[in-house]
Amino acid sequence: MTLELAMMMMNEIPWWKKSVVYQIYPKSFYDANGDGIGDLQGIIQKLDYLVELGVDVLWLNPIYRSPQVDNGYDISNYHEIEPELGTMADFNELLAKAHEKGLKIILDLVVNHTSDQHPWFKQAKQAKNNAYHDYYIWKKPVKQQAPNNWGSSFGGSAWTYEAEVAEYYLHLFAKEQPDLNWENEQVRREIYTLMRFWLDKGIDGFRMDVISLISKDPAYPDGPIIQNKQYGSYYAGAANGPRVHEYLQEMNREVLSHYEIMTVGETPHTTVEEATKYTDEHKHELNMVFHFDHMHLDYGENGKFSTKRFALSALKRVFTKWQVGMAQHNGWNSLYWSNHDQARPVTRFGTDQQEYRQAAAKMLGTILHMQQGTPYIFEGEELGMTNARFNSIDDYNDIETKSVYKDFTENKHLGSDYAMETIYLKSRDNARTPMPWSATKNAGFTTGKPWLLPNPNYPQINVEQALRDPDSVFYYYQQLIKLRHTLPIVTTGKYRLLHPQDERNYTFLRETAEQVLFVTGNFTAQAEQLELPTFLAGLENKLIISNFTAPQSTSKTVNLPAYGAAVYLFTKECDKSR
Ligand code: NOJ
Repeated sequence: MTLELAMMMMNEIPWWKKSVVYQIYPKSFYDANGDGIGDLQGIIQKLDYLVELGVDVLWLNPIYRSPQVDNGYDISNYHEIEPELGTMADFNELLAKAHEKGLKIILDLVVNHTSDQHPWFKQAKQAKNNAYHDYYIWKKPVKQQAPNNWGSSFGGSAWTYEAEVAEYYLHLFAKEQPDLNWENEQVRREIYTLMRFWLDKGIDGFRMDVISLISKDPAYPDGPIIQNKQYGSYYAGAANGPRVHEYLQEMNREVLSHYEIMTVGETPHTTVEEATKYTDEHKHELNMVFHFDHMHLDYGENGKFSTKRFALSALKRVFTKWQVGMAQHNGWNSLYWSNHDQARPVTRFGTDQQEYRQAAAKMLGTILHMQQGTPYIFEGEELGMTNARFNSIDDYNDIETKSVYKDFTENKHLGSDYAMETIYLKSRDNARTPMPWSATKNAGFTTGKPWLLPNPNYPQINVEQALRDPDSVFYYYQQLIKLRHTLPIVTTGKYRLLHPQDERNYTFLRETAEQVLFVTGNFTAQAEQLELPTFLAGLENKLIISNFTAPQSTSKTVNLPAYGAAVYLFTKECDKSR
């Protein structure tokens, strides 16, 4: 196939399959008004930085009015901007300027729950016969207790008693985040209306928060009690419920299908099989989902907050299962190492040892960006940012981190040192520290007092430094993004894993009828030598990208230094005659 033909075929592919998404946590990105909190004007000021990186789409974490119990995931008004972040005029300006610069914007859609300060909930809890009561999920006490043993994601029961109505309401997250009742058609209509409000402004899509949880098992069964847990597994019967696909198909029919947009669902507790139901293009639900399988590889007996390290063979198994599974079922992968809920990837999957940090960050970027799917970069990942270590729990802000600390020290008696050790590895605040723009005070993020301390290593790891150094992680990410835009095989090539059991390097191929992309990354601090598969040895090839000085082409072996990564593009025999 000629390059022109390949490019013509690429034109048929929807834009979101060829895009790279950059996730912005607005509170932490850039503070333009000096109040210590990032804001929309701050994002506007930094758009050129994102253009230089080369990304296509910006995903903003929630920017709606919110009491901020869970940093914006508790919404009290879906039609207004959170005053800490700016105004609707700021948002309109941001959207227009981003579009002018060729950047699309997708917003977070949080409709599994609202804030308890939302007018709907304030009404709902007043009386059983209030028109809004049925907007939420209420159950009578059973033997004067909560109706089942579900635990909330942030600790404690998922049910809170409301004396006024003598019923419990469900909240799979904090008690200030009551779950909406999707069984109520009126609720669904309200949601579709608010979605249209934003889409009619011209936004380019939605990231849908915990969308796999919107339909609950009507029997509300107890969940199995897991070791060390007071409550049953908190999503038991709540994930991928009986009507979830019906709801999403309805949402697609009513709203999504009327706009040229992208959708990505956050779908906890979703297997490949389940995910294909959400994303099969013939089913008309979502474009892609975020699964959590690789995020669970270092869970220990207390769940996420553990000191366990992942095993490379397990990571390969997970990625491979999703690469192959989604391709087989007309689905599409979203590719991510991190987001605002996760630790920094270089610490978690690579190393933050100074000597190797940059190589490890580039290697991880290579392994992810050369897979099939839409890659997501969380702010600061393009600098190779590491986890932060603050001495005191008081320096942390996140509701999950604080509740785990309390649980570990007060209920489980695991000791403060152990609790802090797991927080250093897993706290969501590792990702949420302010973006380090420079080595000046407060990392150049704010002239005020930052709402969360910057990572103490900001004098070394910051944007100004990265832009000065031609060998920085930033410029490597820029190249990775460019490869996706210029090499069709990165979008279309079929994935094949090599050496599944190897615990040191991750090597895979991307194949089309004419070409093979050979991608390899060393996950260790020791040099590695890799044999090329025999069918590639001797074929014409060229180096596409590497994080070390690699030969321009390879014949039999590839030598990788510590945390080295290299990608070679091979031309198959059949194409040589053309
Ligand atoms: C998932 C979001 O990513 C997380 O930050 C939030 O706490 C929960 N959903 C609840 O909305």
